[in-house]
Amino acid sequence: MSAAKPSIKIDEQSLITSKLFRGSSETSSTDDLGNDFSQSVGQLALILEVAKQGFDNGRPAAEVVARLAGELHQLRASSPAAVWERLVAVAQNHAVGKFLSQDPLSNWSFTKPRGYSGDASLLDIYYKHPSMDDVVAEATPLGRQIYDYTVNVPACAAGRERCEILARTVDEAADACDGAAEIFAVAAGHLREAEICRSLPAKAIRRWVALDQDPVSVGVMTRDHAGTAVEPMIGSVMGLLKRSYAHLGTFDLVYASGLYDYLQRKVAIKLMQRMTDFVRPGGRLLFANFSDEITSDGYMETFMDWPLILRSADDMWDIITASVDRNAFDCEVWYGSNRNIVYGTLRRK
Ligand SMILES: C[S@@+](CC[C@H](N)C(=O)[O-])C[C@H]1O[C@@H](n2cnc3c(N)ncnc32)[C@H](O)[C@@H]1O
Repeated sequence: MSAAKPSIKIDEQSLITSKLFRGSSETSSTDDLGNDFSQSVGQLALILEVAKQGFDNGRPAAEVVARLAGELHQLRASSPAAVWERLVAVAQNHAVGKFLSQDPLSNWSFTKPRGYSGDASLLDIYYKHPSMDDVVAEATPLGRQIYDYTVNVPACAAGRERCEILARTVDEAADACDGAAEIFAVAAGHLREAEICRSLPAKAIRRWVALDQDPVSVGVMTRDHAGTAVEPMIGSVMGLLKRSYAHLGTFDLVYASGLYDYLQRKVAIKLMQRMTDFVRPGGRLLFANFSDEITSDGYMETFMDWPLILRSADDMWDIITASVDRNAFDCEVWYGSNRNIVYGTLRRK
């Protein structure tokens, strides 16, 4: 994919950059990688060439991309991390990118208009939110066909279900608190769950603090939820770790969705500890993470430039166990319906 990336300086508060991910792994020269690397480059070249020929020959886009994504998943799974890291760069410079970049979802993710991966507008594209209808409508006919496939892969379906799960969890908190629930959304994005929950329009929430580092996203929430219990605020994981928001008090529900996928274990644990400080007795904390069972990982890392830290149920338990006193919390780990997202819930006794 050859689209030039903007040179926006990433907010130092944001933890979400693919460079940061890759910068954290050890770099080796291709000579050090030896046969593994040359064999894998050969395999990758074949995979990409077949996809390119598929597009050149007018094969159905869903067929071409499904095959490509499946093969990239296999190659990623069978490659040492240092080899895969190099393969990502090779794939991103292949001519097949000119087809794939016509997909509005892949293109938004790859070009990062907000300067970082996984911004709230990208999620709006896969949430099929009306605010991004124009971006989808402007796509070429091929781009639209590719989008019809990419937006419906299990990982995106799981993302849409996550939004419903958040809305349901907020409604449960409102019911349990007799309509006076206090909620804290960390890395709230555009807070799309607020648009589908029943408790906000029913005025059954006392306050819903929605923290995000991106001023544009905070602006969208401020505009869309004016006059409601939603209190958007600019804030960061760094600020949470430094206990800068202790003045917010405590909440019946604290949750983070679309954030843990970017956090290394050490930060994930520290953040969990800080988030539990905000949970009052009887209150709940929920966190979500894309699971290591997703199969679009290879495609996402190459043609969407969107690496995620994928976690298993055991990884979620590891974060919970390392973060909190298990005698003080009832904890659960569970999967969404297609197992592409794994959730952790903690209830303070
Ligand atoms: C993938 S979106 C998730 C949005 C929303 N929670 C959802 O599930 O739809 C990730 C959000 O995390 C925010 N974010 C990224 N790094 C952050 C940080 N260090 N502190 C606070 N927010 C951050 C981004 O601005 C973005 O809105």
